Amino acid sequence: MKRILNLKINGRAVDDVVPDNLLLVDFLRERQVLTGAKKGCDGGECGACTVLVNGQPRLSCITLAANCEGAEIETIEGQARNGQLSPLQRAFHENLGAQCGYCTPGMIMAAEGLLRTNPDPSETEIKIALGGNICRCTGYVKIIKSVQVAAAEARQ
Ligand code: FES
Ligand code: FES
Repeated sequence: MKRILNLKINGRAVDDVVPDNLLLVDFLRERQVLTGAKKGCDGGECGACTVLVNGQPRLSCITLAANCEGAEIETIEGQARNGQLSPLQRAFHENLGAQCGYCTPGMIMAAEGLLRTNPDPSETEIKIALGGNICRCTGYVKIIKSVQVAAAEARQ
């Protein structure tokens, strides 16, 4: 079965005909050419595909696009504004929170979801929020520091 899907992606209205079994990550990457969300495990285990759906972090590899009717989707591509990196993007860059960068879009979107509901998270709260996001190269110390720096900057 196919259906017409209407949603917003990074503030832009989108409508498309999608099969019921199309995964959100494939819809974003292949139909919308938004390749920031990555496929790391394709099974809900690594967090590389994390995007925000109505402001909540969601694993797009285990989310059907058809279930996002009317939703607001946010991806890493929508985080920079007017040519300026978001606070989290800048903090990851300046604090070496990314090495190969494969996990970084998912990390940043998970952290973005956290900071919107908890602008002053403890280290433990950051670890819990990013607990489903796996990094194979950076080590987590710099990632957590990046989130702390971005949170402090946003509070100023
Ligand atoms: Fe979605 Fe790994 S690709 S959790
Ligand atoms: Fe390479 Fe995280 S920076 S997987």
